[in-house]
Formats: sequence, structure tokens, C-alpha cells
Amino acid sequence: MAFSRREFVRRFGVGGAAVASAAHIIGYGNEELLAFVQGRGDGQRSQGGPPIAIRLSSNENLRGPSPKVIAALKAHPSKDLGLGYPPPTLSSFVETIATFSGAKPENVIISTGSGEILTAAVMAYCTKDRAFVTADPSYSQPAGTARQINAPVKLTPVDAKLRLDLEALIRGAVGSGLVFLCNPNNPTSSVHTMSDIEQAVRIIKQRSPETGILIDEAYLEYATLPGSGSMVKLALELPGVFISRTFSKAYGMAGMRMGYAVGQPETMTKVGRAWGLGSINELQAVAGIAALKDTEHMAWEKGENTRVRDWTQGQFKAMGFDSPDSQTNFIFVNIRKPAVEFRDACRAQGVAVGRDFPPMEKTYARISLGTMDDMQKAMVVFKQVLGKA
Ligand SMILES: Cc1ncc(COP(=O)(O)O)c(C=O)c1O
Repeated sequence: MAFSRREFVRRFGVGGAAVASAAHIIGYGNEELLAFVQGRGDGQRSQGGPPIAIRLSSNENLRGPSPKVIAALKAHPSKDLGLGYPPPTLSSFVETIATFSGAKPENVIISTGSGEILTAAVMAYCTKDRAFVTADPSYSQPAGTARQINAPVKLTPVDAKLRLDLEALIRGAVGSGLVFLCNPNNPTSSVHTMSDIEQAVRIIKQRSPETGILIDEAYLEYATLPGSGSMVKLALELPGVFISRTFSKAYGMAGMRMGYAVGQPETMTKVGRAWGLGSINELQAVAGIAALKDTEHMAWEKGENTRVRDWTQGQFKAMGFDSPDSQTNFIFVNIRKPAVEFRDACRAQGVAVGRDFPPMEKTYARISLGTMDDMQKAMVVFKQVLGKA
């Protein structure tokens, strides 16, 4: 996105930046664009200032993908790239996801980024009479889609520990179109155990059988809480329940734009027909297979993130700034002042942190976790900005 704010408005709608940009965000599910539209984001490309030295704004994985992914991408190009309808490796990719999930290929849909699945889910289950139900704050893209199609949005505040308030979500679910359970939750970084989620899902399904339930597991690879894990088995058991996963976070492949959902075949057909999910190409398929098979690398990645997370949270705690126990590759810190002030001050020193997350933007900032080296350097800036140097 190398264009200026003015150019952005010109391309996507004169005098209608909010509308145009919302449409664009829905298309791409890109957090940075949301920050850009807020005009207050990390500002890395649009607002001048020093170049960004450390990028801790969009929960990307600064360690990148497994070396085996890079090797597979280098090895693969051949004249077979000329065969594209469908790309030759596509079915193996779907089979690999199915095996990895304990499912069958007919339980899987793939997309160019899991954001497309979220959009499709809202399109499939919500209408002006069937609400979208979500925590507040949570990943806001699907709520944006719901507003676009004039479906009511029911926002349910997170609980005192900044976790999804499952009881409130259950209450909101009755008669609604879709319940969105972001687990772990972005931006609050908390996770619920599988048994808590299972109980909530079963109650919703008993009380409101037609309501769809999407469990977004974008950050699940990073969760270390005992009892946390994927809800894929429940998704295979119950109609209208499905999980979404992404290659953008722990797999370090945000730029490759790959995600998928797993559920019953009828559920996947309903979601897949509701919105274009993009078109996965041959190299994406090759990279995805290599990524899923390299479980050793994923174990290393998880360990590395945990080490960096413990250190970073420990540093903030020692300064007197609390954050909920993070189960992700970001932390949500109570900095006791507006996120925008903290963000702008860090940005002036080349460190980009997350955008505003209403309704908590007056006190909380989201900081993505980079490498240990990134965090040690960024911490010098954080300490200074927070007056603790
Ligand atoms: C919770 C959550 N779900 C989905 C997405 C969409 O990611 P992608 O489209 O890159 O898979 C994001 C991106 O930040 C996210 O935080």
C-alpha cells in the first residue's frame, strides 16, 4: 500500500473514505489498513517521520516462515506452473489441512487469508433480522462486514480479566445470525479452555439451533494455557459450527495470504457460497503443505514466542504496567494513558505499535511481539516514553 492518504481517498471514494476504506478492509482483512484509515496507525508509509525500525503493530511474525517453506518455494517452480485449472498441488493442500485437522477434504474450505472466511461467515449467517454477536473489544473486521450489510451488531463487553464473557455471549446469541468467538481474543490476548468453549457452544446450539458459531483460532498456536486447544472436533460434530485458522501468524506467512475453515460439509458449502474466498495458487499450496508438515519448526516458534512474551510482560510488570496473561504473539498493556499518545511517541522513535482498540483505547495499548532482539531494543523506547527510563 504505497499510496498516500489522499490517493487512498481518490481511489476508493471521494468524500467517502470511511465507506470506501471499510469495503477495502473487508476485502483484505488487514489491520494495518484499519490503522491507516484511522489516520493514527503506525503511520509507517503515510505520515512521514523516521522509518520504522521495529514493527510491532499488526501481530505479524517477524521471525518469518519455516526454512522448509522457503526451500519448498525455491524448489517448486517448473513448467507445471502453466497448469492452473486447478493448480496441480491444490488438492494435496486441502488433504494436508484435512489430515492436520483430523477431518476430511469435504470439511475444509481454503481462502486467500482467513479474513475472507470471516467476511463469508457474516454474509452466510447474518441479515438485517439476524444479528452478529461478538465480544468488545474483539477482532473487528467481521463486525464491519455485518454493518455493511445492515445486520445488527451486538457487542458484549469482555469480562474483568479481559476474556470473552461467554455467558453474555450466550445470552446475546439467541435468535442471532452468527456468534463470533475469537479464541484467543485479539486484542485482549486471553484464551478460554476447550471445555469452556464447548459448553458455551452446546448451550447456544440448544437454545438457538439456527445460529452459526465461528471460532476464530488465528492465534491458537501460541496458546500455552493448559486445556486450551482447537475446537475442530466440535465443529465436525455440530451443524453451523466452524473454526477458522490462518497462516499469517505463527506460520509467519502473512504476505502469502492463506487461511482456511473446517466444519461440516453443508456448513462449509454455505459459507463458501456466500462470498468469494479468493483463489489459492500453486506456490501458496506448496508453501502451505511445507508449513503444516514442519511441526518441529512450529514447536520452536511457539517456544520462542513464549520466551519473548515472558520477558516482555515481565519488563512491563516490573515498571508497574499490567497486562492480561497473554496467550498470543501480542500483549495488551494497561499503560494508563491514551494509546494514541503512547503510539505517537514510540513512532517518533521508529517503533510502531498497535492501533486504537475502542472501548479501551484510553488506557490500553496493544504491542505485537517481535524477536527478542526487537523487544529489547523497543523496551528502551517504551521505558522512556512511559517515564520509567
Ligand atoms: C483474530 C484474527 N482473525 C483473522 C485475521 C485475518 O488474518 P488473515 O486474513 O491474514 O488470515 C486476523 C488478522 O490480524 C486476526 O487478528
